[in-house]
Amino acid sequence: MKIPISKPFFDEKDLEIINEPLISGWVTQGVFVQQFEDTFRKFISANYAVAVSSGTTALHTALAALKISKGDEVILPAFSWVATANAVEYCGAKPVFCDIEPDTFNIDPQEIEKHITPETKAIIPVHLFGLPVAMDIILEIARRYKLKVVEDSACGFGSYYKNNHVGIFGDAGCFSFHPRKAVTTGEGGMVVTSDEELDKKFRELRNHGASQVPDGQSLLSEYNVLGFNYRMTDIQGALGVSQMEKASEILTKRILAAEYYDKLLKNFNKLRKPVRGENCVHSYQSYVCMLKSENTSNINVDELNRKRNLLMQMLSERGISTRQGTHAITNLGYYVNKYRINPGDFPNAYASDKLSIALPLFAQITREEQDFVVDNLKELFKKSELMF
Ligand SMILES: Cc1ncc(COP(=O)(O)O)c(C=O)c1O
Repeated sequence: MKIPISKPFFDEKDLEIINEPLISGWVTQGVFVQQFEDTFRKFISANYAVAVSSGTTALHTALAALKISKGDEVILPAFSWVATANAVEYCGAKPVFCDIEPDTFNIDPQEIEKHITPETKAIIPVHLFGLPVAMDIILEIARRYKLKVVEDSACGFGSYYKNNHVGIFGDAGCFSFHPRKAVTTGEGGMVVTSDEELDKKFRELRNHGASQVPDGQSLLSEYNVLGFNYRMTDIQGALGVSQMEKASEILTKRILAAEYYDKLLKNFNKLRKPVRGENCVHSYQSYVCMLKSENTSNINVDELNRKRNLLMQMLSERGISTRQGTHAITNLGYYVNKYRINPGDFPNAYASDKLSIALPLFAQITREEQDFVVDNLKELFKKSELMF
């Protein structure tokens, strides 16, 4: 048996619809992108949604529209995909890292205030792996210090906090349609907001700074701001449209698969299962466990890290693909060197980088495949090299 970490959910309709822009000849941003924006916006109950070329460019567009620039500081979790911090760098601003909660993998709200300075302009909560951040606390801090909130919801499609879809709490919410996400357009992203003016800015920025398109086809727009080419193609837009038709089915299947892992791992004390969170719907973009350790001092973490890596290698030899959850950005060379970071100052992010393990999860995974994953996991932990 060979089980990938993830697999997109494509069917005949997806294959058919991507032919339509090819046949019509209109392959850049067009009617399908518009339709995708519309269905996405309705699905998550956002007022405005603007499709862009990736989750990363969604983040950059949001921060640029909020005028984050040189001299500004933006607070974000130390444990997230590198793109969260890169988007801040693209604006010339400084990413200020905050440690995470060890159990949720999300930014620790209790730690945020100590990083706020007069230069702080925004917070980026990341709904990591599909588990919503407790947005009440983030919004309360943001209100008190007059900070903007950009939700990195790259992993958050299908995730709800207090019955509202993530991404609609802050000034902007950013989504990704990378193939490891529940709904995919190959590459792609969406930036959402409830503010009409911001929506206009997003549209301007993704299209080279083009403001009003004049009537008729012959004249070009006005270009009064520095924009980017972050447009989504209509081939991707078409795929987005047919993916959204089965979004609820995909999300339900993923949650059921996650619940089956929970059941299989119930009494297994070598791994900590993902927590579900209070008042949350966890969409399980990934099913990320942690090797359990009594003590999280770095020496112990590094020792256990070697076992985690060996475990992933042995699983791979048995046809089971796993991954470390994500990385601590505070461990990455570019950030360590530029900001003289000591990775040990973010102990929970450090431990999550070294000890997390994502199990295969996708809508089509079968119970037999999940049994195979867990049986192998349990068996491997009995091997002397992996005992701890
Ligand atoms: C938390 C987080 N933020 C941002 C991104 C960037 O999204 P994309 O790969 O679509 O650029 C990702 C991608 O996986 C992510 O996991």
